[in-house]
Amino acid sequence: MTRCAIARIDTNALQHNLSRVRAAAPDSRVIAVVKADAYGHGLKQAAHALFAADAFGVARLDEALALREAGIAHRILLMEGVTTSDELRVAAQKRVQLVVHNFEQIDMLESVRLATPVQVWLKLDIGMHRLGFSPDQFAQAWQRLNDCSVVSGTPHIMGHFSHADDRNDSTTTDQLTQFERLSEPWQAERSVANSAAILSRPDSHYQWVRPGIMLYGVSPFVDGLADSEDLMPVMHLSTQLIAVQHLRQGEAVGYGGTWRCPNDMRIGIAAIGYGDGYPRHAESGTPVLVNDQRSQIIGRVSMDMLAVDLRQMPEASVGDTVTLWGDSLPVEEVAEHAKTIAYELLCGVTRRVDFKYS
Ligand SMILES: Cc1ncc(COP(=O)(O)O)c(C=O)c1O
Repeated sequence: MTRCAIARIDTNALQHNLSRVRAAAPDSRVIAVVKADAYGHGLKQAAHALFAADAFGVARLDEALALREAGIAHRILLMEGVTTSDELRVAAQKRVQLVVHNFEQIDMLESVRLATPVQVWLKLDIGMHRLGFSPDQFAQAWQRLNDCSVVSGTPHIMGHFSHADDRNDSTTTDQLTQFERLSEPWQAERSVANSAAILSRPDSHYQWVRPGIMLYGVSPFVDGLADSEDLMPVMHLSTQLIAVQHLRQGEAVGYGGTWRCPNDMRIGIAAIGYGDGYPRHAESGTPVLVNDQRSQIIGRVSMDMLAVDLRQMPEASVGDTVTLWGDSLPVEEVAEHAKTIAYELLCGVTRRVDFKYS
């Protein structure tokens, strides 16, 4: 079977980016966030490449179990916790640490019998209003967990910022102040920093940091590029030209004919589309590289193909390489043209694409 589109995953870049986390947060231990198939990069391969991390963070129990099956013996933090006592038993048996963010989970811990106690992380809601105990529930939740016989040792405390990607937004300062005020009296190990806070808020590092997107070589900031943070892109998405068309001035390209040739010109048809995870909403003008030379997509992206402008590339021909993102073409830039974020583009690459690890 031939698959045109290739996602090359550079595991050295993953390791480089982990060392950037260490340099930015030298006194903290690192929970490498590998949920959602390691942001689309391949859970097991990414975890093996990141073996120097102190722990892994996942969102679903299945992801934690897949890590154990792959021989990962590190601490694993299940960041949404469990929803049933069966899940709780499996998690405990596999030594998976649990975030506890609601009273139903505390009820479950109080009523279950476990052969091995579990480490829990009490989640404080500091303003995202997604998961966690509100400031007025927090002391009661802490007390119950602290008294719970299946909880091992002292609970750790975690929170999550809602605005850290914008360095100029003062919300992060308010949320950190609240996190510090509510968590400080309990003398617990703490974690609140995601990638953006790791790079911009040393005062938020505490004992554990939780980098996700920066490990994959993407800037966590709304206005940033990986390069300026000394991060190396990990995923390099490319394909080939499978046709070249000679069109006349005024002829339309693709579904709906949204783009018309301003003059007689050549266009290339690249074998990648939204069926591979390339965003359909990428507008005409979204950058691509044809043989390392910058060009742009024209017309609508279809399921298996997209068209590229070959006006500046008289030599380009069938079989030539088209790069969608990676070296020299930051995924952040493509995301902006598709009115989304790099996280979504990376997570969205489908399994039709051939993943190659180097
Ligand atoms: C609870 C939690 N911690 C850490 C992270 C990592 O965030 P980032 O990828 O922005 O570094 C995430 C990702 O969404 C998360 O949900």
